[in-house]
Amino acid sequence: MKNAIVITGTPGVGKTTVSREIARSEGYRLIELNSLAMEVGAVSGEDPERGSMIIDEPKLKRELAKVLKSEGAKCIVEGHYGEVVPPRFVEKAVVIRLDPRVLRQRLVERGYHPAKIDENVQAEILDSCLVNAVDAFGKGAVLEVDATRLEVKQLVSKVIEAIAGRGNEPGSVNWIALLQKEGVLHEFLH
Ligand SMILES: Nc1ncnc2c1ncn2[C@@H]1O[C@H](COP(=O)(O)OP(=O)(O)OP(=O)(O)O)[C@@H](O)[C@H]1O
Ligand SMILES: [Mg+2]
Repeated sequence: MKNAIVITGTPGVGKTTVSREIARSEGYRLIELNSLAMEVGAVSGEDPERGSMIIDEPKLKRELAKVLKSEGAKCIVEGHYGEVVPPRFVEKAVVIRLDPRVLRQRLVERGYHPAKIDENVQAEILDSCLVNAVDAFGKGAVLEVDATRLEVKQLVSKVIEAIAGRGNEPGSVNWIALLQKEGVLHEFLH
C-alpha cells in the first residue's frame, strides 16, 4: 500500500518546519529521516569535511520498509535524501525549492562553513534533490513547490495542495534561467 508522502529538498529549504506542521494539522505520522537513521543505527560515520552524517542507505531502506509496512496510518517522510524511501510505498514526493540567494542567506545565518554553503546552493541550482526524486519515484509522482517569498503558513498550504495532486510538475523551477535573467548567475559559478 502506498502510505508515504516524501518531502524532500536541499538542506535549509524548510522541510522539517513544514512537515511537522502538516503532520500535526493533517494527522500524518511523521518520520524524520535523520532521526530514524540515528535510532536504527543506519549512520555509518561522519564526513569530517562536510560535518554531516554518512548514511548507511541499504540499512535505512530496509528499516523504512519495515516501518511503512507495519504502519496503518499515512506517513510523511522528510529529509534531503528522500530517494531512500522504497518506491512501492510512495504515493507522492514533494520537492521544496528555494531561490538560491535566499537559501545562501539562510545557510549563512545557520553558521555553515562556506564550502558547505556553496555545495548546498549549487545542489539547489542543479535540481539535485528533484533529479533524485524523479529517478527514484518517476515523474508522475513528483511535484515541486517553490517556497521563495512564502511564509511558513502559506508554504504549508501549498504543500498540502501538492499532496492532493494540485501542484507544479518537475521542471517548473529553473534557477539557472532566473539567475541569468537577473544578471547574477556568475556569482554562483566558481
Ligand atoms: N517559509 C519560510 N520562511 C522563512 N523562514 C523559514 C521558512 N521555512 C523555514 N524557515 C526557516 O529556515 C530554517 C531552515 O528550516 P528547516 O530546518 O525546516 O529546513 P530543512 O529543510 O529541514 O533543513 P535540513 O535539511 O538541514 O534539516 C529554519 O530556521 C526555519 O525556521
Ligand atoms: Mg530538517
